[in-house]
Amino acid sequence: MDSGDKASKYKGQGSSLLLVLVNALCFSLLQAEPIRVLVTGAAGQIAYSLLYSIAKGDVFGKDQPIILVLLDIPPMLPVLDGVVMELQDCALPLLREVIPTDKVEVGFKDLDAAILVGSMPRKEGMERKDLLKANVAIFKTQGAALDKYAKKTVKVLVVGNPANTNCLIASKSAPSIPKENFSCLTRLDHNRASSQVAMRCGVSSDKVKNVIIWGNHSSTQYPDVHHAKVNVHGSEMAAYDAIKDDAWLRGDFISTVQLRGAAVIKARKLSSAMSAAKAICDHMRDIWFGTKEGEFISMGVYAGGNSYGIPEDLIYSFPVQIKNKTWKVVDGLSINDFSRAKMDATAAELVEERDTALDFLSQ
Ligand SMILES: NC(=O)c1ccc[n+]([C@@H]2O[C@H](COP(=O)([O-])OP(=O)(O)OC[C@H]3O[C@@H](n4cnc5c(N)ncnc54)[C@H](O)[C@@H]3O)[C@@H](O)[C@H]2O)c1
Repeated sequence: MDSGDKASKYKGQGSSLLLVLVNALCFSLLQAEPIRVLVTGAAGQIAYSLLYSIAKGDVFGKDQPIILVLLDIPPMLPVLDGVVMELQDCALPLLREVIPTDKVEVGFKDLDAAILVGSMPRKEGMERKDLLKANVAIFKTQGAALDKYAKKTVKVLVVGNPANTNCLIASKSAPSIPKENFSCLTRLDHNRASSQVAMRCGVSSDKVKNVIIWGNHSSTQYPDVHHAKVNVHGSEMAAYDAIKDDAWLRGDFISTVQLRGAAVIKARKLSSAMSAAKAICDHMRDIWFGTKEGEFISMGVYAGGNSYGIPEDLIYSFPVQIKNKTWKVVDGLSINDFSRAKMDATAAELVEERDTALDFLSQ
């Protein structure tokens, strides 16, 4: 080989090296920045069903890298270590980092999304008021931590019960973050209602849309199908017409959805976890990517300015549509006397819960 051949050989290697470098640069520029997602109660049973779905891209997108921050209380740190090991062992390409912690200053730092699952569970002999007091303390601390450490654009989903009131307390304790960034989970109730209607009509659950959960995530919630549609063999009809059993829709259907959580606990000796995790994914994915055209879903949101006569300073579950990460309550749905009474009853429970919680908050 003469010196000319050698030069052209190295020239060839140089240009392919350059190509590799340019490709690597483009790839890294095209790769989205990781988002930081917090799950509290991360050593618990809902989180165990939830974390895999988040880490594999089911919620924030298949091309969105994620840093998962896992917060729990100090005695649960050894359990959290096991959860971290399992997440690592899943070898998920989108999962860039897992940060287990019991410290709010670590847990709430620079968050893009916060899923607040951890809360004080009801212990035997515990009064409802004592339970509320313990949770006010938790969500006051976590709200203040969001205010201090998280991004102002953070989207906060409260799951831990009493979810509506915990969400209100967290929002009130984070005055620098817009109220609209806070929501609580009633999607599990919404999914339960859709599924009951689908089973009754003999169709799959995706053929049912626009059921509504009004109010509190408790047994006073009002599952409403007056505006729901069912697609039966290709033709879309009102749920009342598809089911043709008003007595069921006004009776057993409502109580089945309202009491489903208790029925699962009775059967499983544990509260709903797989279905709760699925509902959390549905809720957060809709916040991130929006709801489908012509469809609405249920979530607990700030009631300020609503057109349904619900007291303003509450987190109340409404039908909402979401676009550009912003929800809007669906206005103008007709409300009959039957619905009105049920919407007011669940609002009254929330007002009472709020007033007790605000007393604790001011102490
Ligand atoms: N909104 C809904 O639709 C819905 C549905 C199902 C369950 N829930 C509620 O979700 C919550 C969690 O349920 P679970 O089955 O996972 O319970 P779990 O007891 O299995 O787990 C809860 C975890 O939260 C942790 N925790 C408690 N206080 C904490 C704090 N201050 N900070 C961080 N972590 C804390 C606990 O240590 C525990 O690991 C419960 O309040 C349950 O009632 C809500």
